[in-house]
Amino acid sequence: MRKYHIVALPGEGIGKEVVPAAITILKRLAELHGFSVSIEYGLIGQAALKELGAYFPEETAQLCQGKDGILFGAVSQGGLLELRQRFDFFANLRPVKVFPSLIDKSSLKSEMLEGVDILFVRELVSGIYFGASGRTQENTSGYHTMTYSDRDIRRIARIALTKAQQRRGLLTVAHKENALPHLPWTRLVFQEAVSFPEVTVTGMLVDNLAMQLVIDPQQFDVILAGNLFGDILSDLGGALVGSIGLLGSASLNSSGFAMYEAIHGTAPAIAGQGIANPLGTLASVVMMLEQWGELGAVQSLKQAQTKILECGYRTADLNPQAPEILVNTEQLIELLLNELSK
Ligand code: IPM
Ligand code: MG
Repeated sequence: MRKYHIVALPGEGIGKEVVPAAITILKRLAELHGFSVSIEYGLIGQAALKELGAYFPEETAQLCQGKDGILFGAVSQGGLLELRQRFDFFANLRPVKVFPSLIDKSSLKSEMLEGVDILFVRELVSGIYFGASGRTQENTSGYHTMTYSDRDIRRIARIALTKAQQRRGLLTVAHKENALPHLPWTRLVFQEAVSFPEVTVTGMLVDNLAMQLVIDPQQFDVILAGNLFGDILSDLGGALVGSIGLLGSASLNSSGFAMYEAIHGTAPAIAGQGIANPLGTLASVVMMLEQWGELGAVQSLKQAQTKILECGYRTADLNPQAPEILVNTEQLIELLLNELSK
């Protein structure tokens, strides 16, 4: 039997609700598709600081080492950047695909959303998040530096080009070369693209790209961005599909080891109420199953989700209107389990 060992790091806020919810589904999928998943829980964020003295303690790092994946919830501050850096999870993949039954939940007109299927490829362990930073001695000003080695741009470019090649062959590179000319993303990506002749590469200034995402999202296939621009642009993806609660992500290193996480964060306003949308974490579980090659399980889960959404079940973030039916986290999981057993 195929066996997988994962670490669950629920973290804080709704992370503590959606991670266990998604694990219930993962376990059922394993039973149905003939593989096994063992899960160890670890601490990160505030709880880790309290119990183990650090936001990302060495114990947690050791626990993750050598596993088949990390299922991550959310933290409000501390731990996440250290985790990404520790395992060199440089390739952050954030797919944004519209569910046809939720098309009216978007802030955009439905006809502009039909067929929208975008993959954001965000560089995750360099750029301004990890550049030199500090406050001056007088404590009157502060700085964060956006530094990118050509090598780091080239390696994420190859990931984005590979993905574009497997999809519709279009790659848009977010950059800001009119103001930041020493970060020549476009030139470096074009050079790497020589090995990917089927991919059409377009450079786009990031400010224009943000506007284009809202006025014509159908033009995009793969969007490559550095750490900060990718963070900002991918939240726009949440607005496109109707709720950031629907989006998942995978962050991989060069050996294919990865952490899987919904992109919504801790959502303190709704935490503790049992009403969070587990579909973002389940979208991340889909990416984990794809990475393992468990494609039968991927198909079952996607079918069950589509069915439940078509039947009108919605968590609160999707603002259900009659005849849609409001459900909480537990009810949605129960519905999915029933659907999987059919
Ligand atoms: C994300 C989040 C994080 C980021 C925060 C929590 C540091 O916004 O994963 O998109 O900026 O990378
Ligand atoms: Mg973000």
